[in-house]
Amino acid sequence: MHYEYNVATGDFTNAGYASSQVKKFLKQLNIDATIIKRVVVALYEAEVNIVAQAYKGNIYVDIDEDKIRVLLKDEGPGIPDINLAMTEGFSTASPKVREMGFGAGMGFPNINRNADILNVKSIVGVGTEVEIIVKFSN
Ligand SMILES: Nc1ncnc2c1ncn2[C@@H]1O[C@H](COP(=O)(O)OP(=O)(O)OP(=O)(O)O)[C@@H](O)[C@H]1O
Ligand SMILES: [Mg+2]
Repeated sequence: MHYEYNVATGDFTNAGYASSQVKKFLKQLNIDATIIKRVVVALYEAEVNIVAQAYKGNIYVDIDEDKIRVLLKDEGPGIPDINLAMTEGFSTASPKVREMGFGAGMGFPNINRNADILNVKSIVGVGTEVEIIVKFSN
């Protein structure tokens, strides 16, 4: 199955739409609850990062027999140092974003913990691509 979503950037009230849809689909497929949780946490964090950082974003979801692959592509500032961005506590979130409770610098570390495979590609001034794969069994 393939699904696509637009991310409403800057709109924190609707952040998490794709992750809640994906949660519903995985439940319907009777995927293990622990695995669903890992997918939802990873996707939610990546989605919020687009809302907070980018000006345009799309999410492409492929659910197969044995895994889910999510590709998040945005047009935005890009990430100058991906290793640094992956570090716990590192954040460039604006004061406005922090007021809303984001900006602890825990998103990427959480994605990394929950994904079986995480690939991040970014071009400064152009945008970022985040690929998350979670396998349904070991
Ligand atoms: N899609 C993106 N485009 C540009 N920069 C990004 C993107 N995603 C993450 N970053 C950069 O990586 C940093 C770390 O992201 P991470 O999700 O770990 O923390 P955060 O979003 O700042 O805070 P938290 O996720 O805990 O609310 C961000 O502050 C930002 O500088
Ligand atoms: Mg984040």
